[in-house]
Formats: sequence, C-alpha cells, structure tokens
Amino acid sequence: MRPSFPLLAALALVASCQDVLPPLSSTDAAVAPSDGAASVDDERRPLAYTPAGCMHTVSSLAGTINNVLGDRAVFGPMAEPADVHTSWPADPSSTVAFVWRTDSQTRATVVQYGTSPTALDQTAVGSVSTGGTGTAQVTIHETHVCGLMPDTTYHYRVGGEGHWSAVQRFKTGPAPGRSDYDVNFAVSGDSRDNLAVWRQVQDAVAGGAQPPDFEVFTGDAVLLGTLQGAWQQWFAGATSAQSAMPFVMVHGNHDALAINYLMQFAQPQAAAPEQSELYFSFDYGPVHFVFLNDTPLRGDYTGNVAGTQLTWMRADLGRARSNRARVPFIVAVHHKPCFGSSRHSSTTDTIFVRETWGPVFDEYGVDLVLNGHEHDFELSKELDGRGQEVSGRRGVRYIVAAGAGAELYELADGTARAWSAYYESVVNYLRVHATMTRLEVTPYRLDGTIIDRGRVTLTPRPL
Ligand SMILES: [Fe+2]
Ligand SMILES: [Fe+2]
Repeated sequence: MRPSFPLLAALALVASCQDVLPPLSSTDAAVAPSDGAASVDDERRPLAYTPAGCMHTVSSLAGTINNVLGDRAVFGPMAEPADVHTSWPADPSSTVAFVWRTDSQTRATVVQYGTSPTALDQTAVGSVSTGGTGTAQVTIHETHVCGLMPDTTYHYRVGGEGHWSAVQRFKTGPAPGRSDYDVNFAVSGDSRDNLAVWRQVQDAVAGGAQPPDFEVFTGDAVLLGTLQGAWQQWFAGATSAQSAMPFVMVHGNHDALAINYLMQFAQPQAAAPEQSELYFSFDYGPVHFVFLNDTPLRGDYTGNVAGTQLTWMRADLGRARSNRARVPFIVAVHHKPCFGSSRHSSTTDTIFVRETWGPVFDEYGVDLVLNGHEHDFELSKELDGRGQEVSGRRGVRYIVAAGAGAELYELADGTARAWSAYYESVVNYLRVHATMTRLEVTPYRLDGTIIDRGRVTLTPRPL
C-alpha cells in the first residue's frame, strides 16, 4: 500500500498502540465501519486510513479492488497467511508493517504480537487489497503498528482466528539519541534467476552467531515484477530471513514498478511531491539511510532522477549532514551503480544516474553507496563526484552487492575501471556492523568465506 503523511494525521498521534488496542468486536478510529459484508462497489473504492497511534496514513493503490479495513473473521478457501514478512512504514525504532498474502476472498487482517512468543497479548487490525489481473493478481493484507518500544524483539502471528501463521519475530531499531549503538544489517540483491541460490543466500544471512537486525535488498528480486508466481518463489526463498527480520527493498528495473512489487512491500515514503514508497529515508542508530529509485515511472529520468527526486534527496541529505553529531554515517542505497565495472557501466541510464547523483553524494558527504544491478561484488576506491580517486580528503565508497541468484556478470571489457578497488564475479552478500565510531562492511561469498579485499571500515567524517 501507499502511505502518505497529511498534516492532520498528526492528530492521530494520541498514544502508543499498546494503549489504543482496537477492541475485538467493534470499530474504532482506525477502522472503517464494516459488518463483513461490504458491497462490491464499496470494495472498489480507494481506501485511506491512519493506523491507531501512527503519524502516517495508509492508502490503497489506484486500480485495486477488495479494499477493506478491519473485517476480522471473513475467510476464503485459502485463508492461511503466506509470504508473511515485516518492513518499516516509518521510524524503525517505533513502527512496523506486517504484510502477507491470502486468497482474494479472505478479509481477516489481524496481527497478534508481544514481547514473548508465548504471550502475544496485543492485537492490531489492518486492511486488505487486491491488485493485478489473471496470473498477476495478488491479494495482500497489511497491518501497521506504531508506538512500539525501541530496541525490542517482538513476536507475532498474522491472519485471524483459526487461520494463524506461525509465530515470527522482528526487532525494532534503537532509540534515537543514544550513543552506545551497536547495530547490524545485511545486504543482498539480484536474486531473480536462481531462487535456489537465493534461498541459500538468505539461509546464510539469517544464520550465524549474530543474525542481522534487518536486511537491505538492492533490487531485481524477480525476472519481471508482474510475475506473481516468481514473487511467491522469492518469498519462499527468503523465509529464514523474513521470519526474523524486516526487509527494506530498493526498486530494481526488473521489478518493473509492477503493482505486485508495490503492494507486497510497505515502506516509508518521501513527502510531497510524489508520495511514493520508491524513495525514502530513515535513521537507524548511527546510520542515516537514504533509499532511491533509479528506474522512474515512464522512464522520466530528467523529471524524476534529476528533478523531483533530486530535490527531495538534496533536502534530505542536507538535514542528515547537519545531524552528523548525532547520526554520524550516511548510507545511500539504489539499484544501478554509478561506479561499477560490469555489463551496465556504460549504458545510457547508468551514465545519467552517475552524472546526476554522483556529484550530490560527494557534495553532501555520503559515506557509502550500496548498489545492485551488476551481478557481482565490487568495491570502489574513495571517489569524488565524477569517479576520480580523491587524495587529501574523504571520498565516497561504492559497493555493488548483487548476484544473489541472478546469472553472474564478468567485467565489461575484461578489466576493472579506474575507479574500482576490487571486483569479483561471485554470489555474495554483505554484513555491516555500525557503532558511533565505526562502520565495518564485511562481504561474504556463498560458501561462507570472506571477500577480504572487499572489506572496508569507515570512521565518521570530521564535523
Ligand atoms: Fe539485475
Ligand atoms: Fe537491474
């Protein structure tokens, strides 16, 4: 669904969700009146609501049907929740969105959650929506909860009475303003062709002594975003990770702005003008993340990548730069690498993104840019905005972390570009560990070995 942030929504910030649980048998401020028998006309109307305790609203996408909020006991023939996962619709320290899939007749959209797997003592309800047609059709349930405690592991199940999912978990982000942050996240991308490899990557990400707090996906999840069957394989491959951590998705060209992509992930959004979930930012402990979309609607690179999105990005990075004393690192994430050495490094769209965003990353002191699109691992040198290695000052590091299932690429001309520090054509993922004083990136091959020459440790830029 597509959240938006009207000013009046702030009025809904009355209390935490723990304090305003919707009663199980009636409606409340967050729930539109419904007796479980909404008319077809009703369900074709767009839906917009403010989840209890949240500052953001949730709205259905154009063209969707079955838009219903709050029915708790209407079940179709395949009501068992599938593809159950979490993501962040706003501040990771206090919000979460639960998303899952059922048949198109199920309306129950209930989440039970709590801080113990055996005491899911809190309840929230959300909305359902159906989009697409034929084999692309998908029915998605989405429940948003706000007012969560920071740095806390929550357990949850979704569905409705008699049709509950397994109990899964997620952890909220650390409370803003601390100085003892110790956070971990994983990065992977480009799973699209070989979902068996994708599953192995996700099992590796989720395993280990210290599983990450969340995972960033750098785009191109499936071969074509409208192939709902492929999405279901993708979710099946990601079960081990998604049952334990939120995902943050970057839109890739293969995801194709499909309604299946847009519906199946609940993400934050930039404010006006576009109010999409395709680019957004948030702080997570010592890191300010800015997520960008380099495959704009209608291929509008000039109006979007160099226009509305760039305007938003500059404002966001300006705020982040002036907040470095509190949040010392800035990490940008988007799909098409500005400075890679592989198949797409000289395509028109890549060059446009490079020439438009590269100088901005440098200008605002972005520390690290994470990308996908090229199915390989690559670490850049410290670069200025035009891809020249800097001397005497800090530059920007770029890392391509992709090839988590997609066919691997080789170097475009058999040799790495001058901006490259290390390249390897290998299935890979990253683990990133960040505190207030260090941001350490450790790239892994699928066999568990570390790509030593791809490791990098960053310290905060001088204020
Ligand atoms: Fe790709
Ligand atoms: Fe791509």
